[in-house]
Amino acid sequence: MVLNNFINNYQYYRENMISFLIKPKILQVETTNDCNSNCEICMRTHLKRPMGSISFEEFKKLPLNDFNEVALHGWGECLLHPDIFKMVSYAKSLGLKTSLCSNGSLLDKRLDELLKSGLDEIAFGIYSLDGKEHILNNIKTLVEEKNNRNIPLTTYIDITMFKDNLEHIPEIIDTGIELGVNGIVLHRLFDIYGVNKEIKYGLTNKEEKAFINGLISKYKNKINIYPPLPHTTPCRILLNCMFIRWDCMQSPCVYLTDESLGDARTSYNELRKRHLLYIKKKVKKNDICKRCIW
Ligand SMILES: C[S@@+](CC[C@H](N)C(=O)[O-])C[C@H]1O[C@@H](n2cnc3c(N)ncnc32)[C@H](O)[C@@H]1O
Ligand code: SF4
Ligand code: SF4
Repeated sequence: MVLNNFINNYQYYRENMISFLIKPKILQVETTNDCNSNCEICMRTHLKRPMGSISFEEFKKLPLNDFNEVALHGWGECLLHPDIFKMVSYAKSLGLKTSLCSNGSLLDKRLDELLKSGLDEIAFGIYSLDGKEHILNNIKTLVEEKNNRNIPLTTYIDITMFKDNLEHIPEIIDTGIELGVNGIVLHRLFDIYGVNKEIKYGLTNKEEKAFINGLISKYKNKINIYPPLPHTTPCRILLNCMFIRWDCMQSPCVYLTDESLGDARTSYNELRKRHLLYIKKKVKKNDICKRCIW
């Protein structure tokens, strides 16, 4: 009896603490899930949802004012969106930090717009250097031009790590240093759908740790390296970030976009209520979350 009361009280206080403490201040908006590439590791074409883009008018209906930061990308190439920099400038006008992740292929076509938009951060997803000459040239021009114009834009190379590309990662980092980017972000490959049977995926924790430690000591004082963080439950993504699909529906995160929590053209409190409910009731039971290494 005493033990039962204790457990019930503990659960009650724990749930209330979660509700009180978790206030995600980063909003990730999948501006489009269309893409001009077809990377062998990518899950984009395995999603069950139709392809589309959010309109600028619908974007403005999201409760942006209640967030500190907006990341305008999901599965897809954000620079394909004709109004992507209108959205960046609009979010900046509300005082939000803005970031993008792009494959870099369209940078040359949109360089001036990008530099005038007020964008704070851009990461370029590069997990292999094969066939990337045009993209590398684009990044070089962007870095030169933002330095010439004195624009405080931070640039990263975002490397997805998996067994097959480990030996090429130092080459990618060396290229990033040559191009003059500000940092290297490393993250784990996570395959939900069995995208490509040929790819060797996971590293053990020990292998990952040894590899990352080697990189950090090799590149000390040369470039900032941001390694993947340990996976937790609930994960750091849910604790810090809410996700909106291009069709304005809320999802728990970028890996769970086939799941809809409801229309996101509502208040922050409503988005947060659904997000917390997901954390409290569903994350532990979700098969994808159980396998997740992010
Ligand atoms: C999904 S892409 C979207 C932005 C842009 N199209 C790009 O490629 O950078 C964002 C990042 O996720 C990486 N990525 C692709 N498939 C992934 C997967 N299955 N697991 C983890 N990261 C993945 C990409 O290489 C890229 O670094
Ligand atoms: S990783 Fe990016 S560029 Fe490659 S297919 Fe996926 S969304 Fe497109
Ligand atoms: S799949 Fe689940 S555990 Fe992984 S990032 Fe998304 S919410 Fe977090």
